[in-house]
Amino acid sequence: MARITTPELAQAFIDEQLAAIKAQVGGSKVLLALSGGVDSSVCAALISRAIGRQLTCVHVNHGLLRKGEPEQVCKVFGEQFDLNLIYVDAVDRFLDALAGVADPEQKRKIIGKLFIDVFAEEAAKLDGIRFLAQGTIYPDILESGPVKSHHNVGGLPPELDFELVEPVKFLYKDEVRVVGKQLGLPDGMVYRQPFPGPGLGVRCVGAITRDRLEAVRESDAILREEFAKNGLEGKVWQYFTVVPDFKSTGITDGLRTFDWPCIIRAVNTVDAVTAEVPELEFALLKHIAYRITHEVKGVNRCLFDLTDKPTGTIEYE
Ligand code: XMP
Repeated sequence: MARITTPELAQAFIDEQLAAIKAQVGGSKVLLALSGGVDSSVCAALISRAIGRQLTCVHVNHGLLRKGEPEQVCKVFGEQFDLNLIYVDAVDRFLDALAGVADPEQKRKIIGKLFIDVFAEEAAKLDGIRFLAQGTIYPDILESGPVKSHHNVGGLPPELDFELVEPVKFLYKDEVRVVGKQLGLPDGMVYRQPFPGPGLGVRCVGAITRDRLEAVRESDAILREEFAKNGLEGKVWQYFTVVPDFKSTGITDGLRTFDWPCIIRAVNTVDAVTAEVPELEFALLKHIAYRITHEVKGVNRCLFDLTDKPTGTIEYE
C-alpha cells in the first residue's frame, strides 16, 4: 500500500479501517488502554468513529504523566468522540508501590505490572468485552527496534486475553500522525514527542519521591512551553528534564539553599538507536535555566546535558 502522506490518503485509510473494524467487531464490545500517546489515541479515535459506544477506553493516571496530560485525554475523548471513557486515578497506588525503590529495572517492573493489574481490574468490572484494541504500529511488529521490545513489560495476563483489534499495525509513526490529524485530534496529541511507558518515573532518578517528581513535572512543563514559544517543537526530536536524587548548595534571596539540580536533555535522532545533542541558542538555554531555578520548588541549579548517544542513552534510567 502507498505510504500515507496526505489527508486524502489518510481519509482513504480511515474509510477502509472503519469498514474493517465494523466487520471484525460486529455488535461486540471493545476495550482499549488509552495512554494519550499518539498510537493509542489514534486507535481510540478510529474505533470510536467505527462503533461508537461499543468502545470503552480506560485511562490510567499513574501519577507519572506530564503536566496537563490526563486532563487533555479526558477533554478530547470525553467531548470530541463518542465512546465510554473510564478515568482511573491510581496515583497513590503507583507512588506507594514505588516508594523507596531505586533500582531502574525494579521501578519499570513495578510500573508495568501495576499498570496491567489496574487495567485488568477495570476490565473485570465490565460485562461482555470480547475484543482488546491495541495501538501496535509496524515498527513494533518488525523486530521492534530498541524502543518497545526491551522497555515495555510485555505479555498480557489471562484475564486480558481478548481477541485483538489493531487498526494501525501496518503504519509507521509518521503515517499514524497524518491519520490522527485527519481524525481531528489536536496537534498537541498528534505531534507529541515520544514518551516512555514508565513516564516521568525514569526521569526522577533513583527512588521517586512526590516532591522531586513534581520538580520533574514542573520543569518539563517549562521546557516544553519555552521550546514551543521558540519554534523548536517538532524540530527537536525529544526534550525533557531530569531531576537526580542528590543535592548541592546554592543561594536564593541571600539565603543558603541545599536543593536538587535539574538537567535539560534534548536530542535529535532518526531511530533512537543513536542520537545527537542539537546546538541550541545559548540565550534560550539560560532563560530556561533561569525560569526553572526560580519557578520550580526544590531546584537551585540547571544543567544542560551535552552527551550524544552513545555514550549516554536518551533517558537516564
Ligand atoms: P534510551 O534511553 O534507551 O531511549 O536511549 C530510547 C527511546 O526509547 C524511549 N524509552 C522508552 N519507551 N518504554 C517506552 O515505551 C520505556 O520504558 C522506555 N525507556 C526509554 C526513550 O524515551 C527514547 O525515545
